[in-house]
Amino acid sequence: MPATTIDGKKISKDIQTEIKQQVADFVAAGHAPPKLVAVLVGQDPASQVYVRNKERACKRAGIDSALIQMDATTTTQQLLELVDQLNHDATVSGILVQLPLPSGIDSQRVLDAISALKDVDAFHPENVGLLSQGRPRFLPCTPFGIVHILKRSGITTAGKSICIIGRSDIVGKPMALMLAQKDSPLGADMANATVTLCHSRTKNLAEICASADIVIAAIGKPEFVTADMLKPGAVVIDVGINRTDQGLVGDVDFEAAAEVASQITPVPGGVGPLTVTILLENTLKAAQLNQ
Ligand code: GUN
Repeated sequence: MPATTIDGKKISKDIQTEIKQQVADFVAAGHAPPKLVAVLVGQDPASQVYVRNKERACKRAGIDSALIQMDATTTTQQLLELVDQLNHDATVSGILVQLPLPSGIDSQRVLDAISALKDVDAFHPENVGLLSQGRPRFLPCTPFGIVHILKRSGITTAGKSICIIGRSDIVGKPMALMLAQKDSPLGADMANATVTLCHSRTKNLAEICASADIVIAAIGKPEFVTADMLKPGAVVIDVGINRTDQGLVGDVDFEAAAEVASQITPVPGGVGPLTVTILLENTLKAAQLNQ
């Protein structure tokens, strides 16, 4: 029987409505609205679209936002100075430096310079460390968005075997940490999984994948996960956004996988919308922490 397609847009909209109310309550309690500052360096078209989406989502939720656009020739030092200024600006709740940065910039130095209390991406080593110890401050946007998707689709993770494909610092690695913890802000049944973190050097990847109750594909290779790599009834979460001649495709062969899976996220309209939604949640949290 074909899988149910998970509607990430609807889940995202529902959560954004709840955040909007929480922001309104925060403001009604006498605080200034949360404010997100996004920094975009250069002209990468995909990054421009993402940043615009973030600004629109902020507006809908009652969160102030500002975009600082800088030339592609900006130096690491100039960016560090800007981050320092934003760190000390009491009107700024959250800072997001859009990745990828141009190749001449030391991205790690810039990301490390963002105040850990304004780090709405949860990329700062202090926030990664807190997550790793099971006492998270901010949760990284895409992985936490996936936990929201699972919960709102009636899927728990406790005791399940989960195969994550891809070990990036933005998705795979923090996703593995979150799901393997004893607890989650969304409840203990949304953690406590047995996680296998697969990557380009994994032997028997197809076999490991085929034994998983939940597969999370975040490897950045178009239609990498095929139907024969899935256990019948598996839940499939596709994080891939690959621009190909055939248009936008995920890391999963959707049509074939949907014949085997029980529930599956599409691309677009699956995980993507959740990333910006969690960013709003983190910006509100940053405003609460920084007041
Ligand atoms: N580029 C792609 N995804 C992300 C993200 O989650 N945060 C930032 N800052 N840049 C990105």
